[in-house]
Amino acid sequence: MANGPGAYTDDGCAVEVYRRLPVGEDLHVIHLVAGEGATILDLGAGAGRLADPLSLLGHRVVAVDDSAEMLTHVTHARTVRSRIEHLDLPTTFDVVVLASHLINNPCERRRHQLLLTVARHLAAGGRALVQWHPPVWFDSLSAGDVWDEALGDMNIQVAVSAVREDGALLDAVVRYVFRGTAWTHGFTTRRILLRDLQLEARAAGLAIHPPDDPAVTWLLATIS
Ligand SMILES: C[S@@+](CC[C@H](N)C(=O)[O-])C[C@H]1O[C@@H](n2cnc3c(N)ncnc32)[C@H](O)[C@@H]1O
Repeated sequence: MANGPGAYTDDGCAVEVYRRLPVGEDLHVIHLVAGEGATILDLGAGAGRLADPLSLLGHRVVAVDDSAEMLTHVTHARTVRSRIEHLDLPTTFDVVVLASHLINNPCERRRHQLLLTVARHLAAGGRALVQWHPPVWFDSLSAGDVWDEALGDMNIQVAVSAVREDGALLDAVVRYVFRGTAWTHGFTTRRILLRDLQLEARAAGLAIHPPDDPAVTWLLATIS
């Protein structure tokens, strides 16, 4: 279910929402791992929320997305329009970013393909950052702890509702409101245990390092 003005991506994201979302803490997490002047591949980059500020910090960033409408808003990073699964660039990168919980995809084969793309583009000694919904996130939502918060100084209101769990799958609806205009986005996401994700990553040639805190959403991975 996707509703609201403007274009939507195949996975139901409103372009007009993502071009307005603030970058927040995610920028610092990636910059800290990247160091100075890194080459960074941002998979599922959307409107460049991460890719553009990372470019402005001096990194050489390639933003990949299959939505042409999203990519038109990327102003500083280089853009490549492609499905992540099909991406096969002739170069590797110091840092590969798979953000936005794409790894919680319900389909195991799709997750494997995403991880293979990460591994294929990671330089020897490089580091990948995979953003996931950890199990504790599912626990909090299924306990009825829905968000309703204002994001950043753009004052975008975000609310999550209609949470329904069916085994490992969770369906929910996010509603964004910006200056009186509303967009809704329904999504399905899969609960995955860390050890299972580590096994899936290993099958793709990656080692996911155990995080210090079970609530951490960015996982660090290297070539195994
Ligand atoms: C939730 S948005 C997030 C965008 C950006 N990562 C951010 O944090 O603002 C997810 C983006 O990933 C893209 N995407 C999802 N699955 C994809 C795939 N398999 N191949 C290419 N792009 C994909 C969508 O088109 C969308 O722009």
